[in-house]
Amino acid sequence: MQLLSLTFFAVVISPLIVCKETVEDAALLARRLVASQAVGVMATIFPANTSLEGEPFALQEYYANCYSNGSLSLITMPISRHTRNIVHSPSHSASMTVWSTPPAASRARVALIGNVTILDTQLAVDSGIQDCYLQQHPDARFWLPDDPDGAHEAFWARFDPHSVFFVGGFGNKHFIGDVPLDLYQSTVPVDFLGDNDSFIVQGEI
Ligand SMILES: *[C@@H]1O[C@H](CO)[C@@H](O)[C@H](O)[C@H]1NC(C)=O
Ligand SMILES: *[C@@H]1O[C@H](CO)[C@@H](O)[C@H](O)[C@H]1NC(C)=O
Ligand SMILES: *[C@@H]1O[C@H](CO)[C@@H](O)[C@H](O)[C@H]1NC(C)=O
Ligand SMILES: *[C@@H]1O[C@H](CO)[C@@H](O)[C@H](O)[C@H]1NC(C)=O
Repeated sequence: MQLLSLTFFAVVISPLIVCKETVEDAALLARRLVASQAVGVMATIFPANTSLEGEPFALQEYYANCYSNGSLSLITMPISRHTRNIVHSPSHSASMTVWSTPPAASRARVALIGNVTILDTQLAVDSGIQDCYLQQHPDARFWLPDDPDGAHEAFWARFDPHSVFFVGGFGNKHFIGDVPLDLYQSTVPVDFLGDNDSFIVQGEI
């Protein structure tokens, strides 16, 4: 009888216990999460010879999901604290974190650690970045990089993650840990590309 109930436990209950996310699941969940949002919190480091040298700085930042490899589009402005920290960083480093709505300890969030490359304005516009970005942030039409009447000087930029840390939720059920970059970049969430995926720039993977 005891053996029987143990067998019952093993067969019926254990599938619930072992339903842990794989790293492949985590890559897809992370890509979907990033594609489902357009605002995250960016973190940068204050540069040398400033009063807050070496301190981390985190503040909300718009991004747009316009690259199939998971890189993100940004509008950077010289007046922005993040932009100044990035350009003074030798590797132009930045991190971006994105979380589920509503946020909860049991729900997914991801931290992307990477760096920022300022793009040539005309090439960025020609590649569809502006259309893609405006689709996700219509209010940004007042501060576009190529607008002489824009509110501030601005540049298109690309955030390339080099490390991905995913927390799917509680660790008994969800993946918590690093997602390899090549897996993250090659896991394209086709069902989350938005209404018009002709804007998506094919990434070099
Ligand atoms: C910081 O200031 C020191 C002293 O003036 C100078 O030698 C150094 O080059 C400065 N570092 C940077 C990154 O500007
Ligand atoms: C970003 O980091 C990569 C290596 O991960 C490096 O090759 C590249 O030059 C960096 N970009 C900038 C703008 O510093
Ligand atoms: C998608 O965007 C392209 C480029 O702007 C445009 O030509 C096309 O009509 C759009 N398609 C839809 C279905 O909105
Ligand atoms: C992602 O794709 C873009 C567009 O092709 C490319 O410029 C960028 O270098 C790629 N980033 C990485 C980290 O491979």
